[in-house]
Amino acid sequence: MKMILLGAPGAGKGTQAERLCKVLNIPTISTGNILRAAVKNGTPTGKQAEAYMKAGKLVPDEVIIGIIHDRLDEDDCKNGYILDGVPRTIAQAESLEKAGIRFDDVISIEIPDEAIMERMSGRRVCEHCGASYHLVAVPPKVPGVCDSCGGKLIQRHDDEPETVKHRLEVYHKETEPLKDFYAERGLLRSVENQPSVEATTKAILNALRR
Ligand code: AP5
Ligand code: ZN
Repeated sequence: MKMILLGAPGAGKGTQAERLCKVLNIPTISTGNILRAAVKNGTPTGKQAEAYMKAGKLVPDEVIIGIIHDRLDEDDCKNGYILDGVPRTIAQAESLEKAGIRFDDVISIEIPDEAIMERMSGRRVCEHCGASYHLVAVPPKVPGVCDSCGGKLIQRHDDEPETVKHRLEVYHKETEPLKDFYAERGLLRSVENQPSVEATTKAILNALRR
């Protein structure tokens, strides 16, 4: 199965992708995680992307399109995948379509902008595997330590309130039009964010055409 998770920054795409990939037994591909690893490792892509990410801007399409096509060519993607955070512009979606990639489902996680700011201030992420936690809503078993890999939990550079505000503006302008793009192709399913992570996973699984 090939699916896309759409949603505003902080909607819970990463959190849900991590859970869904275990249930569906397919890999999650997060361009955000790929880019953060590239920045940390100081690769040429990381150097190109860093300033955009810190400012809450989108990394240019040509960089993302290169990354995503390379990743989708890897062996573990043969039986499907979950895309988290990509495509993010019409140009990225068209590039996947031109490559002949057809999706089974596109799920948009819906959450009001007002709820996003609170989420981001409490978010902590694993610096090793990228897993997301929340100090109140999704706390790790041991404070400051990732449940899955034991990595250190840190705050993301782009989670400052001003940057989050900008990321939301970019989402509404550049990414939200993808909902119409996929609705026209009969693929879009909207799922309201639920009060708990578990309930949201259940709602997404119910929305999938399986
Ligand atoms: P990226 O990492 O993709 O960031 P994003 O889309 O802004 O999404 P987030 O990771 O912030 O949020 P999320 O929806 O995954 O939420 P999470 O699960 O963490 O991209 C970062 C940057 O990289 C971009 O700004 C851009 O510069 C660049 N980039 C990446 N991809 C790109 C592309 N394709 N094109 C161009 N540039 C690109 O959840 C948020 C918080 O809420 C967590 O604390 C979590 O624990 C908590 N939470 C989750 N669900 C619930 C719930 N149901 N109840 C209560 N709390 C919850
Ligand atoms: Zn981890």
